[in-house]
Amino acid sequence: MRALDEFGSGTTGSRVLNGTYAGHKAVEDALCEFYAMDHAMVFSTGYQANLGIISTIAGKGDYIVLDIDSHASIWDGCKLGDAEVVPFKHNDIEAMEKRLNRIPEGAGKLVVLEGVYSMLGDISPLREMVRVAKAAGAMVLVDEAHSMGFIGPNGRGVAEDQGCLDQVDFVIGTFSKSVGTVGGFCVSNHPKFEILRLVCRPYVFTASLPPSVVATAATSIRKLMRGSNKRAHLWENSRTLHAGLKARGFQLGTEEPQSAIIAVIMPDLERGAAMWEALLKEGLYVNLARPPATPANMTLLRCSLCAEHTAEQVETILGMFERAGRAVGIID
Ligand SMILES: Cc1ncc(COP(=O)(O)O)c(C=O)c1O
Repeated sequence: MRALDEFGSGTTGSRVLNGTYAGHKAVEDALCEFYAMDHAMVFSTGYQANLGIISTIAGKGDYIVLDIDSHASIWDGCKLGDAEVVPFKHNDIEAMEKRLNRIPEGAGKLVVLEGVYSMLGDISPLREMVRVAKAAGAMVLVDEAHSMGFIGPNGRGVAEDQGCLDQVDFVIGTFSKSVGTVGGFCVSNHPKFEILRLVCRPYVFTASLPPSVVATAATSIRKLMRGSNKRAHLWENSRTLHAGLKARGFQLGTEEPQSAIIAVIMPDLERGAAMWEALLKEGLYVNLARPPATPANMTLLRCSLCAEHTAEQVETILGMFERAGRAVGIID
């Protein structure tokens, strides 16, 4: 509120012109501290962070090797940069290695991975994938949109949790999930990182985030640094919801809970939509995800838990799923 009062509702300009205020630098400092990295660049959304960084570091003649289930912003970043795009089967280390080995000698290589995949809420075997990518001479970018503040001893994500964060060249993240506002970023230790600010089109040619948004994000990031109690509670929520849904006979996206996303697989789109409506009538909103946004043509009811959900609320959610599932005929 103070930022809004002092600096107004918007910056009316690009980060490279009149749109960099003290608050933008402060949030980048907070990100450097949070990830213990040298550089941070804040974008207006996470979508733009992927668009900007991927298209700038991999251009014509370079190769991008990426998981087939990558987020739309990653695919769009590849298109914008004009690099050769080589997808591999989801989380398949061998397939990734084969693709990397087929790239012509001397070409620039970028491997793009996600810590948590947003549709099924499954995590990637990052440690091994990063090792293989590095051995093939590739740079590595990991989108940790769904793990920030939650996964890893300091909430730095799956790469931190699996002990390979120091091998990752670029981490992409968003303020639209655990940070609770809007915005996106890239953090890195790359010595030439700062040059990106001048050549990255989705950073240069758009207005910067409003002062109140960056002030909120900086405060929130600093809170996440001290969030270990909340992290523990969120894991509890995730485990309870996963176990409860499984016990009631629902088919889930992962065998075990791997993140704060619990995806419930619907038999088809028709019954998925009916279930979604029945849950809404119960008073529960969940996201209905359907092809082409989902892998393998699945229809999903995608639950995103947060640390603010109480244990009691998670039990209420389970009761709602049970009643709706019976009414629609998805469970017995
Ligand atoms: C994996 C992943 N990357 C990037 C984004 C984009 O983030 P934002 O909402 O900040 O544009 C999302 C959001 O849905 C996401 O799930």
